[in-house]
Amino acid sequence: MPELEPNPLTEGLERLPVAPTTLVIFGATGDLARRKLLPALYNLAHEGSLPERFALVGFAFGDLDDTAFRQLLTESITSFSRRPPDQAVLAKLVERARFVSSSFDDPAGYEQLATVLADFDEQAGQPLNRCYYLSTAPMFFPVIPTELGKHGLQKHESADVRIVIEKPFGTTLAEAIGLNATVLETFEEKQVFRIDHYLGKETVQNMLAFRFANGLFEPLWNRNFVDHVQITASEDLGIGSRAGYYDSAGALRDLIQNHMLQLLTLLCMEPPVNFTADEVRDEKVKVLHAIKAPTPDDVATMAVRAQYTAGDVDGEPVPGYLEEQGVRHLSTTETYAALRLEVDNWRWAGVPIYLRTGKRLARKVTEIAVVLKPVPHMGFGESTATGVKPNQIILTLQPNEGVSITLGAKIPGTQMRIRPVNMEFLYGTAFLSQSPEAYERLILDAMRGEATLFTRDDEVEAQWRICDPIVSTWAAQPGPLPQYEAGTPGPIEANTLLAPGQTWRAI
Ligand code: BG6
Repeated sequence: MPELEPNPLTEGLERLPVAPTTLVIFGATGDLARRKLLPALYNLAHEGSLPERFALVGFAFGDLDDTAFRQLLTESITSFSRRPPDQAVLAKLVERARFVSSSFDDPAGYEQLATVLADFDEQAGQPLNRCYYLSTAPMFFPVIPTELGKHGLQKHESADVRIVIEKPFGTTLAEAIGLNATVLETFEEKQVFRIDHYLGKETVQNMLAFRFANGLFEPLWNRNFVDHVQITASEDLGIGSRAGYYDSAGALRDLIQNHMLQLLTLLCMEPPVNFTADEVRDEKVKVLHAIKAPTPDDVATMAVRAQYTAGDVDGEPVPGYLEEQGVRHLSTTETYAALRLEVDNWRWAGVPIYLRTGKRLARKVTEIAVVLKPVPHMGFGESTATGVKPNQIILTLQPNEGVSITLGAKIPGTQMRIRPVNMEFLYGTAFLSQSPEAYERLILDAMRGEATLFTRDDEVEAQWRICDPIVSTWAAQPGPLPQYEAGTPGPIEANTLLAPGQTWRAI
C-alpha cells in the first residue's frame, strides 16, 4: 500500500482557524444527527479541525440526560464514522457534551439552554461563538429561531451567533418566503446558513476548480459548442423508513428543487470576480433568474413524473412504491422526476438542460454530462462515421468521483474504424486519499461564518419559483402516474423530453 498523502484539496480546510464555539444540535437524537452530524464532528476532531474550546449541546425531546447523550454520541460515532474512532479523541469530544431534554416550543427548554451556554462561557473564561444547527422535522424550523429570539439567544456580546437550517426549506414558494421572513425577523441573513449537503461534496466544489482553474474548457462552455446537458441523480435505494417524509415530498422537492438546481447553477454560472460568498451566490442566482418558471401548459411538455412498481434491484425482489410501508393508499407522489430546463441568457440560450432523478433505479449514479455538438463535417466514409459520437465531458459525483471526456479514437487495425474511448481523471487515484464527508466541510464552514457553500434567501426562493408551478400542476392532476419497474433506468415517458437525435445516458 502506498503511504497516504494529505489531500491537497482539504488543506485549506484544516488550516483556517475556527473561533471557540458551542454547537447546539436541535434534534440531536434524530437520524441525520446520529448518522451524519455526530460522526462528522468526530472526524473533524480527529483531524484537529475543531476549535480548541469546542462544546457540544444536544437539544431534543427525549428521556435523556447528559450521560445518556454521551452514550448515544459514542454509539453513533462508532457505528457511522468513516474511520474507526480513536478512543482518546472520542473521549475528549464526548466528555463535556451536554443535553437539554425539551420539546422545541417549550420556553423552559430555552431557559435551560441559556444556562448551559453560559456555563460553557464561564468555563472558557470568554463568550464563545454559538452555532445552532436545526436538524429537526421541518415543522420546527420557524419555531426554533423565534424561541431563540424570545430568549435573547440570537446574539451574544462580542461573539458570533449563527443558525444552520437543514432541508427542506419550505415545501412551496409561499412557505419558503414565509420561513425566510420568520427566520429573518430574529436573525440577520449573514447569520443564516441554509444547508444543501451537495455543496459540501468535494466533487461539487471541484466543478468550480474544473471550470475556473482551467483554460481548456471555458471556451467550449456555451451555446456555440454545447448541444445539451444531462444532470442525473439516480438511486437504487427505495424510500427506506422515510415514507412519512417522502410521501408528502416526492422526487422533485426531495432532490431537484435543491441539490440538482445547485449542480445546474454551478455548471452554468458566469465566473465570479472573486470567490467570496456573495459574489459566487450572486452569479448562481442570476442563472436561476434566467430560467423561465413554467406555466401549467409548459409542465405537460417539460416535466415527467413516475412511480416505481415492484421489481428486482441487485438480484433482490423489492416492492413497488404503493406497497411500501407508510405510503398513502393510491398515493400520487412521484419517485422519479425529469425536467427540461433552459437557461435563457447569452451563454446558454437554446441549450436544453435535462435533469432526472429517481429512487429504485438501476444503480446509484450522480453525474453531469455536457454533450458537445457533433463535428461540422464528417469526411470519413459511412462505415467509419457510424462509430463517431459527439464528445461528452462527464463530471461524476458518485460513485468513482472524477471527470472523464469521451473522445473518438481509431480502433487498432488495418481499417479506419472509430469508436468512443474515455479519458479519465479519478479522484481516488489522483489524490490517494479519502475525501471528507460533505457535512464535515459544511459544519466547519458554518462555525467559521463562511457562507459560500450555503443557499442564500433569494437563491432558495428562486429555486422554488421554478419548481412551484410544477408541484402545483402535478398536484392538480389525478393519478395514476406513469410507472417504471424497480431496478430499471426509469420510465419510457422520459424520452419525450429529449430533442430528436438525443438519448439519455445509460444508468
Ligand atoms: C437527500 C434526500 O437530501 O439526499 C434523499 O432527502 C437522498 O432522499 C439523498 O437519498 C441523496 O444524497 P447523496 O449524498 O446520497 O447523493
